[in-house]
Amino acid sequence: MTANLDTDLAALEEEGRLAIAAASTAHELEAARIRLLGRKEGRLTAIMRGLGSLDPAERPAAGARANRVKEALSGLLDAKQEELERGQRGSAPDADLTLPGRAVWRGARHPVTLVISEICDVLGTLGFTRARGPEAETDWYNFTALNTPLDHPAADMHDTFYLAPGVLLRSHTSPVQVRTMQEYAPPIRIVAPGMCYRRDPFDASHAPAFEQLEGLAVDEGITFVDLKATLSEFARRLFGERARVRFRPSFFPFTEPSAEVDVSCMICGGGGCSACKGTGWIEIMGAGMVHPAVFEHVGYDPERYTGFAFGMGPARIAMLRYGIPDIRLLYDTDVRFLEQFTGAA
Ligand code: PHE
Repeated sequence: MTANLDTDLAALEEEGRLAIAAASTAHELEAARIRLLGRKEGRLTAIMRGLGSLDPAERPAAGARANRVKEALSGLLDAKQEELERGQRGSAPDADLTLPGRAVWRGARHPVTLVISEICDVLGTLGFTRARGPEAETDWYNFTALNTPLDHPAADMHDTFYLAPGVLLRSHTSPVQVRTMQEYAPPIRIVAPGMCYRRDPFDASHAPAFEQLEGLAVDEGITFVDLKATLSEFARRLFGERARVRFRPSFFPFTEPSAEVDVSCMICGGGGCSACKGTGWIEIMGAGMVHPAVFEHVGYDPERYTGFAFGMGPARIAMLRYGIPDIRLLYDTDVRFLEQFTGAA
Protein backbone atom coordinates (compact mmCIF):
# COMPACT_ATOMS: atom_id res chain seq x y z
CA MET A 1 0.00 0.00 0.00
CA THR A 2 2.69 2.47 1.03
CA ALA A 3 4.72 1.67 -2.03
CA ASN A 4 1.65 2.28 -4.16
CA LEU A 5 0.99 5.55 -2.50
CA ASP A 6 4.60 6.62 -3.03
CA THR A 7 4.44 5.73 -6.68
CA ASP A 8 1.19 7.55 -7.10
CA LEU A 9 2.60 10.65 -5.44
CA ALA A 10 5.76 10.57 -7.52
CA ALA A 11 3.71 10.15 -10.69
CA LEU A 12 1.47 13.01 -9.70
CA GLU A 13 4.40 15.29 -9.03
CA GLU A 14 6.06 14.47 -12.35
CA GLU A 15 2.87 14.85 -14.30
CA GLY A 16 2.08 18.08 -12.49
CA ARG A 17 5.47 19.59 -13.37
CA LEU A 18 4.90 18.84 -17.04
CA ALA A 19 1.32 20.16 -17.06
CA ILE A 20 2.34 23.37 -15.32
CA ALA A 21 5.26 23.93 -17.64
CA ALA A 22 3.03 23.30 -20.66
CA ALA A 23 0.30 25.74 -19.61
CA SER A 24 0.50 28.82 -21.81
CA THR A 25 -2.50 30.79 -20.60
CA ALA A 26 -3.95 31.68 -17.21
CA HIS A 27 -6.96 29.62 -18.15
CA GLU A 28 -4.93 26.49 -18.87
CA LEU A 29 -2.99 26.98 -15.67
CA GLU A 30 -6.16 27.24 -13.62
CA ALA A 31 -7.45 24.03 -15.25
CA ALA A 32 -4.21 22.27 -14.27
CA ARG A 33 -4.51 23.58 -10.71
CA ILE A 34 -8.00 22.15 -10.39
CA ARG A 35 -7.03 18.85 -11.96
CA LEU A 36 -4.01 18.41 -9.68
CA LEU A 37 -4.97 20.01 -6.39
CA GLY A 38 -8.73 20.64 -6.64
CA ARG A 39 -10.26 19.98 -3.28
CA LYS A 40 -13.09 17.77 -4.43
CA GLU A 41 -11.96 15.89 -7.49
CA GLY A 42 -8.26 16.72 -7.76
CA ARG A 43 -5.67 13.98 -8.15
CA LEU A 44 -4.04 14.68 -4.83
CA THR A 45 -7.37 14.44 -3.04
CA ALA A 46 -7.96 11.04 -4.63
CA ILE A 47 -4.57 9.81 -3.41
CA MET A 48 -5.12 11.21 0.06
CA ARG A 49 -8.32 9.24 0.35
CA GLY A 50 -6.14 6.13 0.21
CA LEU A 51 -4.45 7.21 3.44
CA GLY A 52 -7.44 5.96 5.36
CA SER A 53 -6.75 2.34 4.46
CA LEU A 54 -3.09 2.50 5.61
CA ASP A 55 -1.78 1.02 8.78
CA PRO A 56 -2.24 3.77 11.40
CA ALA A 57 1.49 3.72 12.10
CA GLU A 58 2.29 4.56 8.51
CA ARG A 59 -0.23 7.34 8.11
CA PRO A 60 1.78 10.29 9.48
CA ALA A 61 4.78 9.68 7.23
CA ALA A 62 2.58 9.15 4.17
CA GLY A 63 0.59 12.28 5.00
CA ALA A 64 3.79 14.29 5.26
CA ARG A 65 4.97 13.04 1.83
CA ALA A 66 1.62 13.96 0.29
CA ASN A 67 1.91 17.42 1.81
CA ARG A 68 5.37 17.92 0.36
CA VAL A 69 4.07 17.10 -3.10
CA LYS A 70 1.19 19.48 -2.61
CA GLU A 71 3.50 22.30 -1.56
CA ALA A 72 5.88 21.67 -4.43
CA LEU A 73 3.05 21.81 -6.95
CA SER A 74 1.46 24.88 -5.35
CA GLY A 75 4.78 26.68 -5.52
CA LEU A 76 5.17 25.80 -9.19
CA LEU A 77 1.61 26.90 -9.95
CA ASP A 78 2.12 30.28 -8.25
CA ALA A 79 5.44 30.89 -9.97
CA LYS A 80 3.95 30.06 -13.32
CA GLN A 81 0.98 32.28 -12.71
CA GLU A 82 3.25 35.20 -11.97
CA GLU A 83 5.27 34.46 -15.07
CA LEU A 84 2.14 34.40 -17.22
CA GLU A 85 0.87 37.66 -15.76
CA ARG A 86 4.19 39.36 -16.29
CA GLY A 87 4.40 38.07 -19.83
CA GLN A 88 0.90 39.22 -20.59
CA ARG A 89 1.56 42.68 -19.34
CA GLY A 90 4.75 42.97 -21.28
CA SER A 91 3.53 41.61 -24.53
CA ALA A 92 -0.10 42.72 -24.86
CA PRO A 93 0.01 44.92 -27.96
CA ASP A 94 -2.64 47.35 -26.68
CA ALA A 95 -1.15 47.91 -23.23
CA ASP A 96 -0.12 51.56 -22.88
CA LEU A 97 2.48 51.59 -20.16
CA THR A 98 2.60 55.39 -20.17
CA LEU A 99 -0.99 55.71 -18.90
CA PRO A 100 -1.24 57.13 -15.37
CA GLY A 101 -2.32 54.69 -12.68
CA ARG A 102 -5.95 54.50 -11.68
CA ALA A 103 -6.31 56.76 -8.66
CA VAL A 104 -8.38 55.58 -5.74
CA TRP A 105 -10.50 58.44 -4.37
CA ARG A 106 -9.72 58.61 -0.69
CA GLY A 107 -12.37 61.18 0.16
CA ALA A 108 -12.28 64.94 0.51
CA ARG A 109 -13.31 67.54 3.01
CA HIS A 110 -16.81 68.89 2.44
CA PRO A 111 -16.84 72.41 0.97
CA VAL A 112 -18.65 73.75 4.05
CA THR A 113 -16.05 72.13 6.32
CA LEU A 114 -13.31 73.76 4.24
CA VAL A 115 -14.92 77.17 4.67
CA ILE A 116 -15.45 76.64 8.40
CA SER A 117 -11.82 75.78 8.98
CA GLU A 118 -10.71 78.74 6.91
CA ILE A 119 -12.95 81.11 8.90
CA CYS A 120 -11.73 79.62 12.18
CA ASP A 121 -8.12 80.08 11.01
CA VAL A 122 -8.72 83.72 10.12
CA LEU A 123 -10.50 84.44 13.40
CA GLY A 124 -7.80 82.44 15.19
CA THR A 125 -5.21 84.95 13.99
CA LEU A 126 -7.44 87.68 15.49
CA GLY A 127 -7.39 85.94 18.87
CA PHE A 128 -10.62 83.90 18.76
CA THR A 129 -10.54 80.40 20.24
CA ARG A 130 -12.75 77.61 19.00
CA ALA A 131 -15.67 76.69 21.25
CA ARG A 132 -18.62 74.37 20.95
CA GLY A 133 -21.96 73.60 22.52
CA PRO A 134 -24.63 70.90 22.30
CA GLU A 135 -27.04 70.62 19.35
CA ALA A 136 -29.81 69.50 21.70
CA GLU A 137 -30.51 72.56 23.84
CA THR A 138 -33.02 73.75 26.38
CA ASP A 139 -35.29 76.64 25.44
CA TRP A 140 -33.61 78.64 28.19
CA TYR A 141 -30.25 78.62 26.36
CA ASN A 142 -31.74 78.89 22.89
CA PHE A 143 -34.21 81.70 23.67
CA THR A 144 -34.70 82.95 27.23
CA ALA A 145 -31.08 83.63 28.18
CA LEU A 146 -30.71 85.34 24.80
CA ASN A 147 -33.37 87.85 25.79
CA THR A 148 -35.94 86.17 23.57
CA PRO A 149 -39.15 85.40 25.49
CA LEU A 150 -40.82 82.32 24.07
CA ASP A 151 -43.84 84.39 23.02
CA HIS A 152 -41.65 86.96 21.25
CA PRO A 153 -42.18 87.10 17.44
CA ALA A 154 -38.43 86.57 17.01
CA ALA A 155 -38.92 83.08 18.45
CA ASP A 156 -41.36 82.31 15.64
CA MET A 157 -38.67 82.88 13.05
CA HIS A 158 -36.70 80.21 14.83
CA ASP A 159 -39.37 77.52 14.85
CA THR A 160 -37.41 74.33 15.42
CA PHE A 161 -37.75 70.69 16.35
CA TYR A 162 -38.75 69.90 19.91
CA LEU A 163 -37.33 66.73 21.43
CA ALA A 164 -39.27 67.00 24.69
CA PRO A 165 -41.04 69.83 26.49
CA GLY A 166 -38.42 72.58 26.88
CA VAL A 167 -35.76 70.64 24.95
CA LEU A 168 -35.11 71.38 21.31
CA LEU A 169 -32.61 71.20 18.49
CA ARG A 170 -30.87 74.58 18.68
CA SER A 171 -32.02 77.01 16.02
CA HIS A 172 -28.75 78.99 16.06
CA THR A 173 -25.28 78.80 17.57
CA SER A 174 -25.95 81.78 19.86
CA PRO A 175 -26.61 79.55 22.92
CA VAL A 176 -22.87 78.82 22.85
CA GLN A 177 -22.39 82.50 23.81
CA VAL A 178 -24.39 81.85 26.98
CA ARG A 179 -22.69 78.57 27.84
CA THR A 180 -19.23 80.07 27.34
CA MET A 181 -19.94 83.12 29.47
CA GLN A 182 -21.38 80.93 32.22
CA GLU A 183 -18.21 78.92 32.28
CA TYR A 184 -15.51 81.57 31.83
CA ALA A 185 -14.91 85.06 33.13
CA PRO A 186 -14.07 87.86 30.67
CA PRO A 187 -12.08 88.57 28.57
CA ILE A 188 -13.62 86.14 26.07
CA ARG A 189 -13.06 85.72 22.39
CA ILE A 190 -14.58 82.61 20.83
CA VAL A 191 -15.63 81.25 17.47
CA ALA A 192 -18.22 78.47 17.64
CA PRO A 193 -19.18 76.54 14.51
CA GLY A 194 -21.88 73.87 14.55
CA MET A 195 -25.13 72.44 13.25
CA CYS A 196 -28.43 74.25 13.74
CA TYR A 197 -32.00 73.25 12.94
CA ARG A 198 -35.11 75.05 11.84
CA ARG A 199 -38.44 74.06 10.44
CA ASP A 200 -37.49 75.54 7.07
CA PRO A 201 -38.40 74.08 3.70
CA PHE A 202 -35.62 72.20 1.88
CA ASP A 203 -35.26 74.39 -1.19
CA ALA A 204 -32.49 76.05 -3.23
CA SER A 205 -31.54 78.42 -0.41
CA HIS A 206 -32.82 76.75 2.80
CA ALA A 207 -32.10 73.54 4.61
CA PRO A 208 -33.74 72.36 7.84
CA ALA A 209 -30.28 71.37 9.16
CA PHE A 210 -27.40 73.72 8.48
CA GLU A 211 -24.08 74.95 9.82
CA GLN A 212 -23.73 78.25 11.61
CA LEU A 213 -20.71 79.97 13.02
CA GLU A 214 -20.88 82.24 16.03
CA GLY A 215 -18.37 84.83 17.19
CA LEU A 216 -18.27 86.50 20.60
CA ALA A 217 -15.88 88.99 22.21
CA VAL A 218 -16.41 90.36 25.72
CA ASP A 219 -14.14 92.59 27.76
CA GLU A 220 -14.04 95.96 29.44
CA GLY A 221 -14.28 98.83 27.00
CA ILE A 222 -15.29 96.97 23.82
CA THR A 223 -17.23 99.26 21.48
CA PHE A 224 -18.95 99.10 18.11
CA VAL A 225 -15.66 100.30 16.61
CA ASP A 226 -14.06 97.01 17.67
CA LEU A 227 -16.90 95.09 16.01
CA LYS A 228 -16.50 97.02 12.75
CA ALA A 229 -12.72 96.77 12.76
CA THR A 230 -12.80 93.04 13.51
CA LEU A 231 -15.32 92.23 10.80
CA SER A 232 -13.61 94.50 8.23
CA GLU A 233 -10.31 92.74 8.84
CA PHE A 234 -12.08 89.37 8.81
CA ALA A 235 -13.58 90.13 5.38
CA ARG A 236 -10.23 91.25 3.97
CA ARG A 237 -8.49 88.11 5.17
CA LEU A 238 -11.24 85.79 3.96
CA PHE A 239 -12.20 87.42 0.66
CA GLY A 240 -9.12 89.49 -0.24
CA GLU A 241 -7.59 92.93 0.37
CA ARG A 242 -10.24 94.75 -1.66
CA ALA A 243 -13.21 93.36 0.28
CA ARG A 244 -15.25 95.98 2.15
CA VAL A 245 -18.07 95.55 4.66
CA ARG A 246 -21.20 97.57 5.26
CA PHE A 247 -23.53 97.49 8.25
CA ARG A 248 -27.30 97.90 7.93
CA PRO A 249 -29.47 98.45 11.02
CA SER A 250 -31.33 95.31 12.03
CA PHE A 251 -32.86 93.62 15.04
CA PHE A 252 -31.86 90.66 17.19
CA PRO A 253 -33.20 90.37 20.74
CA PHE A 254 -29.75 89.52 22.14
CA THR A 255 -27.81 92.41 20.56
CA GLU A 256 -28.32 96.17 20.78
CA PRO A 257 -27.63 97.83 18.45
CA SER A 258 -27.92 95.07 15.83
CA ALA A 259 -26.82 94.97 12.21
CA GLU A 260 -26.86 92.88 9.09
CA VAL A 261 -23.37 92.80 7.67
CA ASP A 262 -22.81 92.83 3.91
CA VAL A 263 -19.54 92.24 2.13
CA SER A 264 -18.73 93.76 -1.27
CA CYS A 265 -19.61 91.17 -3.91
CA MET A 266 -16.58 88.93 -4.43
CA ILE A 267 -17.82 87.95 -7.88
CA CYS A 268 -18.14 91.39 -9.52
CA GLY A 269 -16.06 93.36 -7.01
CA GLY A 270 -19.01 95.65 -6.22
CA GLY A 271 -20.12 96.69 -9.69
CA GLY A 272 -23.31 94.61 -9.63
CA CYS A 273 -23.93 91.15 -11.06
CA SER A 274 -26.45 88.33 -10.78
CA ALA A 275 -24.83 86.87 -7.63
CA CYS A 276 -25.43 90.16 -5.74
CA LYS A 277 -28.67 90.88 -7.62
CA GLY A 278 -27.13 94.03 -9.08
CA THR A 279 -26.48 95.66 -5.68
CA GLY A 280 -22.74 95.04 -5.38
CA TRP A 281 -23.24 93.71 -1.83
CA ILE A 282 -23.86 90.28 -0.36
CA GLU A 283 -25.29 89.74 3.11
CA ILE A 284 -23.08 87.37 5.07
CA MET A 285 -24.02 87.70 8.73
CA GLY A 286 -25.95 89.20 11.61
CA ALA A 287 -24.06 91.04 14.35
CA GLY A 288 -24.33 93.54 17.17
CA MET A 289 -23.29 94.57 20.67
CA VAL A 290 -24.23 92.01 23.32
CA HIS A 291 -27.48 93.07 25.02
CA PRO A 292 -27.06 93.89 28.75
CA ALA A 293 -29.93 91.49 29.52
CA VAL A 294 -27.79 88.60 28.21
CA PHE A 295 -24.96 89.62 30.54
CA GLU A 296 -27.41 89.63 33.42
CA HIS A 297 -28.57 86.09 32.58
CA VAL A 298 -25.00 84.76 32.72
CA GLY A 299 -23.99 86.76 35.79
CA TYR A 300 -21.68 89.29 34.10
CA ASP A 301 -21.86 92.88 35.31
CA PRO A 302 -23.35 94.84 32.38
CA GLU A 303 -22.00 98.09 33.86
CA ARG A 304 -18.49 96.78 33.63
CA TYR A 305 -18.42 94.65 30.50
CA THR A 306 -19.40 95.17 26.89
CA GLY A 307 -18.97 92.92 23.91
CA PHE A 308 -19.98 92.09 20.38
CA ALA A 309 -21.34 88.97 18.71
CA PHE A 310 -21.87 87.84 15.15
CA GLY A 311 -23.34 84.81 13.44
CA MET A 312 -22.95 83.62 9.88
CA GLY A 313 -23.88 80.70 7.62
CA PRO A 314 -20.75 79.04 6.22
CA ALA A 315 -22.86 77.20 3.61
CA ARG A 316 -23.77 80.55 2.05
CA ILE A 317 -20.13 81.55 1.97
CA ALA A 318 -19.15 78.19 0.46
CA MET A 319 -21.83 78.64 -2.22
CA LEU A 320 -20.50 82.09 -3.11
CA ARG A 321 -16.91 81.00 -3.06
CA TYR A 322 -17.35 77.88 -5.19
CA GLY A 323 -20.24 79.09 -7.33
CA ILE A 324 -22.66 76.45 -6.00
CA PRO A 325 -26.16 77.43 -7.19
CA ASP A 326 -28.33 75.25 -4.93
CA ILE A 327 -27.82 74.52 -1.23
CA ARG A 328 -29.23 71.02 -1.67
CA LEU A 329 -26.10 70.06 -3.59
CA LEU A 330 -24.20 70.36 -0.31
CA TYR A 331 -26.24 67.48 1.06
CA ASP A 332 -25.83 65.30 -2.03
CA THR A 333 -24.15 61.97 -1.48
CA ASP A 334 -23.02 61.82 -5.10
CA VAL A 335 -19.24 61.83 -4.82
CA ARG A 336 -18.97 63.39 -8.28
CA PHE A 337 -20.09 66.61 -6.62
CA LEU A 338 -17.95 66.25 -3.51
CA GLU A 339 -14.78 65.07 -5.20
CA GLN A 340 -14.42 68.42 -6.98
CA PHE A 341 -13.34 69.93 -3.69
CA THR A 342 -10.43 67.58 -3.02
CA GLY A 343 -7.53 69.67 -1.86
CA ALA A 344 -9.37 72.94 -2.54
CA ALA A 345 -8.59 75.98 -0.39
N1 PHE B 1 -28.22 84.01 15.93
C1 PHE B 1 -28.58 84.91 14.88
C2 PHE B 1 -29.39 84.13 13.82
O1 PHE B 1 -29.33 82.94 13.79
C3 PHE B 1 -27.38 85.54 14.22
C4 PHE B 1 -26.65 86.45 15.14
C5 PHE B 1 -25.64 85.99 15.94
C6 PHE B 1 -26.98 87.80 15.22
C7 PHE B 1 -24.95 86.84 16.79
C8 PHE B 1 -26.30 88.65 16.04
C9 PHE B 1 -25.31 88.20 16.83
O2 PHE B 1 -30.09 84.69 13.01
